[in-house]
Amino acid sequence: MSESTIRVKRLAYVRVSAPDLTKAETFLEEFGLRVAARTEEAIYFRGTDPDPPCYVLTRGHAGVTSIAFEADSAADLERIAKIEGASAVGKLDEPAGGQAVRVRDPQGMQVEIVHGQSALEPIAAAPFHAFNMDGYRHREGRLPAFRPGPSHVRRIGHLVLESGDPVSVYRWYHEHLGLRKTDEVQLPNGATQMRFARLDRGPEYVDHHVVGFQFALDEGARVQHIAFEVGNFDDLMTGHEHLKSRGRKNVWGVGRHRLGGQIFDYWANPWGVIHEHWTDTDLVNQDHVPTDSDILGLRDYWGPAPSPAFAIARWNWKVVRNVAGVLLARMRAGR
Ligand SMILES: [Fe+2]
Repeated sequence: MSESTIRVKRLAYVRVSAPDLTKAETFLEEFGLRVAARTEEAIYFRGTDPDPPCYVLTRGHAGVTSIAFEADSAADLERIAKIEGASAVGKLDEPAGGQAVRVRDPQGMQVEIVHGQSALEPIAAAPFHAFNMDGYRHREGRLPAFRPGPSHVRRIGHLVLESGDPVSVYRWYHEHLGLRKTDEVQLPNGATQMRFARLDRGPEYVDHHVVGFQFALDEGARVQHIAFEVGNFDDLMTGHEHLKSRGRKNVWGVGRHRLGGQIFDYWANPWGVIHEHWTDTDLVNQDHVPTDSDILGLRDYWGPAPSPAFAIARWNWKVVRNVAGVLLARMRAGR
């Protein structure tokens, strides 16, 4: 167990703004999120799980403006309210209610720590079926009918924070929210390219990562992508075909990640904010032994290479310098 200020329970929601709410809502409906509530200021979206809304859409400059984690108790909110720069505990005047503390992380992202939000009733998840694979004959009769349409998003799962100094940002989340390193990818110069971190729930198994701390090629700070669990592989592929049929921009996938093990599929909203569908993640607990991998030797299990739109959020001279560094090292290593 870490000696963090608190150990958060789960990623609760993201606040995302877009200049055109109608266009943004259409994308999210095609992506598979459902509207749970509307107010004058915001549209609240949910997955099929009973969690409170996991996506709050507001009008504004396109991007993720805030990320929220759920705390175990009101006492934990009081604890986190004492860290440097944190607000007092305040009421959340929103459909799910609850209380929150707001604070900025070292890269300037607003972080909310929430407690006491009301759960929703679960809604119908993706059709389930067993498999006749690996020598097993578990599925009798016909497949359930998959209707063409959006994936069934269950819940928000993780996000990636990118910056010029991911290790310092990780340390803040470790110290205050209890996130722990699961695995890491390193650049040819030994610096951290990506540190995957999970919730610290002791013996309980949790997703391989809840936050990825990534080195940004342009060394800018942002939420690089937000990721949502869908029902299963058929559900992910059904949603892939649906988004493709609507002319949406696929920026990476379908593939299966080496670190985390998920089947992934990444899509950009109309302003380039990347939204991921995933299914079948690795689960780890306190017995996990973190690994460090060299980026030059790391390949996903299967799937295409990421598109430039996935890897590069914004072009500047630092991108050219950082990409050239990796390519030169790759040439030298003969890979
Ligand atoms: Fe992801």
